[in-house]
Amino acid sequence: MNSWKLPDSSTKLCCLIGYPVKQSPSPAIHNVAFQHLKINAIYMSFAVLGNELAKAVEGLRAIGLLGANVTMPHKEAVIRLLDDVDVWAKKIGAVNTVTNKDGKLIGCNTDADGFANPLKRRTKLDKLDAIIIGAGGAAKACAFALGRGGCREILILNRTISRAQSLAAAIKKEFGTKVSAKELNQKTLQSVAGHNLIVNATPLGMHEGWFKMSLGKAKLNKGTIAYDLVYRPIETDFLQEFGKLGATCIKGYEMLVEQAALSFEIWTGKKAPKAIMTEAALSAIGAR
Ligand SMILES: NC(=O)c1ccc[n+]([C@@H]2O[C@H](COP(=O)([O-])OP(=O)(O)OC[C@H]3O[C@@H](n4cnc5c(N)ncnc54)[C@H](OP(=O)(O)O)[C@@H]3O)[C@@H](O)[C@H]2O)c1
Repeated sequence: MNSWKLPDSSTKLCCLIGYPVKQSPSPAIHNVAFQHLKINAIYMSFAVLGNELAKAVEGLRAIGLLGANVTMPHKEAVIRLLDDVDVWAKKIGAVNTVTNKDGKLIGCNTDADGFANPLKRRTKLDKLDAIIIGAGGAAKACAFALGRGGCREILILNRTISRAQSLAAAIKKEFGTKVSAKELNQKTLQSVAGHNLIVNATPLGMHEGWFKMSLGKAKLNKGTIAYDLVYRPIETDFLQEFGKLGATCIKGYEMLVEQAALSFEIWTGKKAPKAIMTEAALSAIGAR
């Protein structure tokens, strides 16, 4: 491994803006990739509160940044502050990646493909009958990826039913997918038995435990995939429960690395060194 070169007057800046960002593995993932490919750039995290977002974006524009990631709670609010937003980010209604094209800040969304790529390594999206738990920003990216990939059916379960309903309506309108929405509760969770992809797109399992709900004696279809977007801890309660029932598990760090690799490629035009980025992600998360 090359030794770290100190930043100089030609060093380009990439960054993460959001709140909180202290625990984010993104700097580790991107800096190791810059170092590996000998790109003179550095990635930093900046904690930006909601009322400071406009000023932060103007600052990034003024200093001519190379690119930025945007995380909670700014993925939607940032859209109106950018010069343009690509078609999928516009449809999803969320930007997680900003690139600087000749002084213009362009927003895009790598969460949708970042979510889909680990799935595509295991199955075909048009063979899936999915349940998405959650209807926030990440769930939206998952639902759009599944709808675009021709997923057979999607059931969205969410604590706030109205959010699940509006996401379901958007997916149906965009792709004509068979999609329904229900409130998340012990009873609706039992629907997992009839589906072959279950996605947790809520933060449950990150700080508080997985639902105080049980899958009971639910029998999963053969080949069911359980996919948790939570990446810290690596082995979540959600994945452990579904693993016990025989599901194939996809851990949240896979999406984390995929969406980062796609952002990196947009900013640098170079193929992302994913194996090295994965190792950096796992170390930063605390799994190494
Ligand atoms: N692996 C990755 O690369 C990646 C990428 C993006 C996001 N994520 C993870 O995905 C998760 C969701 O992120 P997001 O951006 O979608 O957040 P968000 O927009 O704030 O949405 C949060 C979702 O979780 C639900 N929720 C929150 N607390 C809940 C609780 N106590 N009980 C039941 N439901 C609850 C919310 O339901 P209500 O609508 O009822 O509030 C909403 O559907 C986070 O853990 C984030 O770290 C991972």
